[in-house]
Amino acid sequence: MPKHITEADLALLAFAREIQPRAYVPYSEFRVGAAIFAGGEIFQGVNVENAAYGSAICAERSAALAAVTAGYTEFDAVAVIGDSEAPCVPCGACRQFLAEFNPGMRVIMSGRTDEIDVRRLDELLPDAFVRGYLDQDDNGEND
Ligand code: THU
Repeated sequence: MPKHITEADLALLAFAREIQPRAYVPYSEFRVGAAIFAGGEIFQGVNVENAAYGSAICAERSAALAAVTAGYTEFDAVAVIGDSEAPCVPCGACRQFLAEFNPGMRVIMSGRTDEIDVRRLDELLPDAFVRGYLDQDDNGEND
């Protein structure tokens, strides 16, 4: 196991792997499972596709919705597992969606093999648009 991967990372990834079979993927057949660690709790999600293709939701956002719905908005880490050969990275929309809840969260990624990649979300999405921008005055200062 690479040194930077912790037992907690592996445990969160196991929750993502556990839920992955529930993915609803009649169109892509690409199953993704996600698990978010927030406030000491685990929230799982899968990708859910739709006949109107653009209405699909990714596993990461599905897990984030479960966490927020349960009242948890401070995310420490997200684990993602996809059917890909290489570790499955969160799509751009999911990176932005997750950054709302902690740009510095850990992102644990895996695919069909034993390979695991761990990065910080702000490495995957530098300079995310976050709420601070909405509060800036004409001088770029926050109120
Ligand atoms: N997908 C995810 O759920 N998460 C990702 O990080 C990448 C893509 C889903 C969306 C769609 O259901 C399928 O994978 C193929 O793009």
